[in-house]
Amino acid sequence: MYNAKAYAANSATSPLASATIPRRDPTEHDVQIQILFCGICHSDLHTVRNEWESAMPTVYPCVPGHEIVGRVTRVGSAVKKFKPGDIAAVGCMVDSDRTCPECQAGFEQFCPNWTLTYNMPDKHTGRVTYGGYSESIVVDEHFVLRVPSNLDLAGAAPLLCAGITTYSPLRHWGVTKGKKVGVVGLGGLGHMGVKFAHALGAHVVVFTTSPNKRDDAFRLCADDVVVSRDANEMRKHAGSFDFILDCVSAEHDVNAYLQLLRRDGNLTLVGAPEKPLAVSAFSLLMGRRSLSGSPIGGIAETQEMLDFCGARNITSDVEVIPMQQVNEAYGRLLKSDVKYRFSIDMASLT
Ligand SMILES: NC(=O)c1ccc[n+]([C@@H]2O[C@H](COP(=O)([O-])OP(=O)(O)OC[C@H]3O[C@@H](n4cnc5c(N)ncnc54)[C@H](OP(=O)(O)O)[C@@H]3O)[C@@H](O)[C@H]2O)c1
Ligand SMILES: [Zn+2]
Ligand SMILES: [Zn+2]
Repeated sequence: MYNAKAYAANSATSPLASATIPRRDPTEHDVQIQILFCGICHSDLHTVRNEWESAMPTVYPCVPGHEIVGRVTRVGSAVKKFKPGDIAAVGCMVDSDRTCPECQAGFEQFCPNWTLTYNMPDKHTGRVTYGGYSESIVVDEHFVLRVPSNLDLAGAAPLLCAGITTYSPLRHWGVTKGKKVGVVGLGGLGHMGVKFAHALGAHVVVFTTSPNKRDDAFRLCADDVVVSRDANEMRKHAGSFDFILDCVSAEHDVNAYLQLLRRDGNLTLVGAPEKPLAVSAFSLLMGRRSLSGSPIGGIAETQEMLDFCGARNITSDVEVIPMQQVNEAYGRLLKSDVKYRFSIDMASLT
């Protein structure tokens, strides 16, 4: 074991502050990474503040961060994919059992024995896993991704969660040219959803509560923008969408969006608000509509998404901040004031 510098929260109400955490020395299949950039996902905030207590209570101290890009510093003797000096990335998972049917099918995100990058029991240290708000991390090579060399690293980090979480359901639900797709909530996930839906050829409509994001939505290649608090604007789109991706982090009326789906249309929740959403049966009965959810994506699909981004030069629009501004950034996330992902420059930690 060795000590690494990090930023941690000690309770649901305390700000993140400088801390030291133990990391394991790389075992034979491990890759040790010096973290260069780590994105700030709203899930980091939900976890730090224990807002998901009923599903996954937070263990303190908590070191969040699962949008990690860095440079390989050491590798174990059996590691084949990476060597010191390579650029590498880590997303929301650092382990799974590799043997269950889901793992064998490449769906590690559905493994009953997965290990998330933070706030999960860590079989190596006996504590919980600590995420990317840290100077380094040690991860089994199966869960380490390659970053296309043309991508800006600060903007590539958010692809590891916001990217795969939006890419995976868009692909699963067959979004292609000719489909009308809605993206609800123009934050970290939402702005990646717009980029991917556009790149896949769909007609993309952004739903936002922030009228001041209208110009940005068009710049991100939306075909239309609806300010969702305007009932008239909403009505114009009734019964017209093939697919809607709901990326909202807080309580909202999902029925207002279900009504915009055409027959057999689907709304997928990727946003994970603290409180349950109320769904009217009629919103689903009419038009035989369906409501689903989707968690991140498997390792193979995450690599596919990164390669897709490399081929099209897609990255996240980031505001790069030093580690010391993380608490301020959380405050801005809660006000929907993010354009469109914070990416922490980890050089600020050392
Ligand atoms: N499924 C998964 O695997 C997965 C992965 C990552 C994150 N998540 C979850 O996805 C959600 C979004 O994450 P994120 O990092 O993209 O968050 P974010 O950057 O904070 O964006 C959330 C957006 O939701 C909209 N919004 C916020 N409060 C709202 C309210 N009260 N009513 C309506 N709209 C509201 C805002 O967009 P406008 O200003 O445009 O309205 C805001 O920018 C979080 O709950 C996060 O935990 C899930
Ligand atoms: Zn995330
Ligand atoms: Zn498994």
